[in-house]
Amino acid sequence: MLLSMTTAMAAHGSVTKAAFGKTPNGTEVDIYTLKSDTVEARIMTYGARIVSIKTADKNGKIADVVLGYDSLDGYLADKKTYFGAVVGRYGNRIAHGEFKLDGKTYHLPKNNGENSLHGGTVGFDQLVWKAREVPEGIELTLVSKDGDQGYPGTVTAHVRYTLHHNALRIDYNVTTDKDTVVNLTNHSYFNLGGIGSGTILDEEMMIAADKYTPTDSGLIPTGELAAVDGTPMDFRKPTVIGKHIHDDFQALKLAGGYDHNWVLRGSTGEVKTAAHVHDLATGRTLTVTTTEPGVQFYAGVSLDGTFKSPGGWPYAKNTALCLETQHFPDSPNHPSFPTTELKPGEARHSMTTFTFSVQK
Ligand code: BGC
Repeated sequence: MLLSMTTAMAAHGSVTKAAFGKTPNGTEVDIYTLKSDTVEARIMTYGARIVSIKTADKNGKIADVVLGYDSLDGYLADKKTYFGAVVGRYGNRIAHGEFKLDGKTYHLPKNNGENSLHGGTVGFDQLVWKAREVPEGIELTLVSKDGDQGYPGTVTAHVRYTLHHNALRIDYNVTTDKDTVVNLTNHSYFNLGGIGSGTILDEEMMIAADKYTPTDSGLIPTGELAAVDGTPMDFRKPTVIGKHIHDDFQALKLAGGYDHNWVLRGSTGEVKTAAHVHDLATGRTLTVTTTEPGVQFYAGVSLDGTFKSPGGWPYAKNTALCLETQHFPDSPNHPSFPTTELKPGEARHSMTTFTFSVQK
């Protein structure tokens, strides 16, 4: 009996909870540790953020492969990077902080030059979510009131993180009581070599996309879906990230490197591979699958060393990459893009998985 219980626990992994400090207004923040046979992931209620993900390399050496801090204070002091957070209500940019819905114009905080970024000045990344344990993980819930950051409708978001052996799965479920727009994603910064190992420029990456969305200088899509063929945006075959990052190419110059949305093959709602990353030195790999139509590959171009790892390593330019599965930036202003509109009575479900393996 005892033996079979232990075996069952090993197969299903474990979830434990601990206190992780308080926000300035006194709200308690908890941190959950999800453990499987191969991965340990810590997730906290502040911003529904992934705080760490530990996996082994080809020699069995364990390292944390996402940028983060060891205390809540680190996260409270950093309003720039969105480390590990669920960003919302609208991941990425909305042009001029404005969109029209049902004939009405809505105004959002302009917190990125002329544009609104990642849900506004106080987005979902800075709010404390409610958590409960579910089989193999946790579910975090946030209620964002009608008018929050200028968006219409009271939105209820449930984000589930579950760990299945080497796969961390994220399920998003969102409902509203008024017509609104929603685009949630996770903003983890991966460095498969482990924090402190160097930049991601030597890592090899594949993105399953034939097109990307070119932008203006404020990183707002022009509306065009451009072919990656023959450009530095072509990651259809595994390509070393640093190979073309400094090429004389308009999109790279505008963003200071890679910070663009790729148009994934397949349809919205269908589970498909989005990207695959391989750190040649350690053998660690990451595979991203999603039901979303796009992925923002952000090569950590604005990291400037101001913020540091728990060990004191500066989080400098290109020391990590984000693969933010998403609807396209500024979709509310582009009727030709897959819609981000959500109506009462509908439930928006999307799913993304991060799977870690070793390739020798
Ligand atoms: C955006 C970048 C931004 C970064 C951190 C990414 O999702 O595409 O432009 O600098 O988030 O805020």
